[in-house]
Amino acid sequence: MTDRFGRTIDYLRISVTDRCNLRCIYCMKEEQQSFLPKEELLTLAEWTRLCEGAALAGIRKIRITGGEPLMREDVVELVEAISHIPGIERVVMTSNGVHLAPLAEKLKKAGLSGVNVSIDSLDAKQYCRLTRRDVLADALEGLKACGRAGLPVKVNCVPVAGENETELLHLAELAKAYPIEVRFIEMMPIGEGSAFPPVENETVRKRLEAVYGKFVRTEQDDREGPAVYYTNAHFKGRIGFISPVSRSFCQSCNRIRVTAEGKLKLCLHHPVDRDLRELVRGGAEPEEIQEVLRERILQKPRDGHTTDESRPMWKIGG
Ligand code: GTP
Ligand code: 5AD
Ligand code: SF4
Repeated sequence: MTDRFGRTIDYLRISVTDRCNLRCIYCMKEEQQSFLPKEELLTLAEWTRLCEGAALAGIRKIRITGGEPLMREDVVELVEAISHIPGIERVVMTSNGVHLAPLAEKLKKAGLSGVNVSIDSLDAKQYCRLTRRDVLADALEGLKACGRAGLPVKVNCVPVAGENETELLHLAELAKAYPIEVRFIEMMPIGEGSAFPPVENETVRKRLEAVYGKFVRTEQDDREGPAVYYTNAHFKGRIGFISPVSRSFCQSCNRIRVTAEGKLKLCLHHPVDRDLRELVRGGAEPEEIQEVLRERILQKPRDGHTTDESRPMWKIGG
C-alpha cells in the first residue's frame, strides 16, 4: 500500500482498549475517565477481521496498544488470532508492564514478537508520583518475565522536567547491563502532556555522555521507526531517542492507526478518518476493508506538523 508521497504503509497500530490501570500525570487525569463502554470496543472477532483486511492491503506488522492492552481479558487470544493471519509477519505490543509477569510466556507462545514497556523511573516513589500507582515492582517483574520468556523488550521513558530527570541515568543503565533498548521520548503536547515542557533528547544524550563517554549513532534503515539508536562501548544494549519535538521522521512514516473506538487514523497528529468499526459491524469482508484502506491511504498527510488533533494519547495508543 503506497501513499501519495511514495511511502509504503505496512505497519498498523491498533488501540484495543482506552482503559488503563495507571494514571500517568502527562497522560490521564486521576479522576474517573470517560472510558468507552465495552460494546463500543471492537470484539476479538472484529479486530481479527479488520486486521485480515489490513493484511490484504499490505500491512505486515501490527502493534497492539491501548490505553493498556493487558486490560483486555482476551488479549492472549487476540495476539494468537492476529499472528495467524496470512501476511502478518510481526505482532508486537506496547504496555506499561504491570500485568505482564503472568502473561509474558503465554503471549510469546501466542505469537508475540516483542514488547515495548513504559517505565519512567526506577525509583519507586518517583514512579508512583508519575503514574499515581505504587506498582513499580510489578512492572519490573513484567520486564524480567519477558527475559525468561525470550520476548525482546524495549523500555520507553518519557523524561518529565523536574520529576524523573534524576533517574534517567539509572534507566539508561538497564541497556548497560542487558542487551535491550532503552528509549527516551520527548514529551508531545498532546492532552495532559501539553502541561509539561519537553526535556530535549539532546540534553539527555549530553548527560549520558558526560558519564559514559561518546555515544555513536548506529546504522539503521528508515523503517526502524521514529527512534534513533546509539551505542556505547560500555553498553550491552542500545539507547534510543524518539524526538517528535526536535526532529522530523514523517518522510519515512510507514504507519497508520486504529483508535479504541475503531476509527482509522492516518497520522498521530491528525483527526480521525473512516469509522472502521461501523464497516466491520456492517458485515464487511476483509476484501472490502482492504479496498477502503487502499482508498483512504491516499489521504495520509505529508507530515504531522500542523496538528488539529484534540484526542488524548490514551485513546490513540501513541
Ligand atoms: P516500534 O518502532 O515498532 O518499536 O514502535 P514505536 O517505538 O513507534 O512504538 P511505541 O508504542 O513504543 O511508541 C513510542 C513513542 O513513539 C510513543 O510516544 C509514540 O507516541 C511515539 N510515536 C510512535 N509513532 C509515532 C509517529 O508516527 N509520530 C510521532 N510523532 N510519534 C510516534
Ligand atoms: N508525549 C510523549 N509520549 C507519551 N506517551 C504518553 N503520552 C505521551 C506524550 N504526551 C508515551 C507513553 C508510552 C508511549 C506509548 O507513549 O509513556 O511509553
Ligand atoms: Fe496508561 Fe500509558 Fe497513559 Fe500511563 S501513559 S496512563 S501507562 S496509557
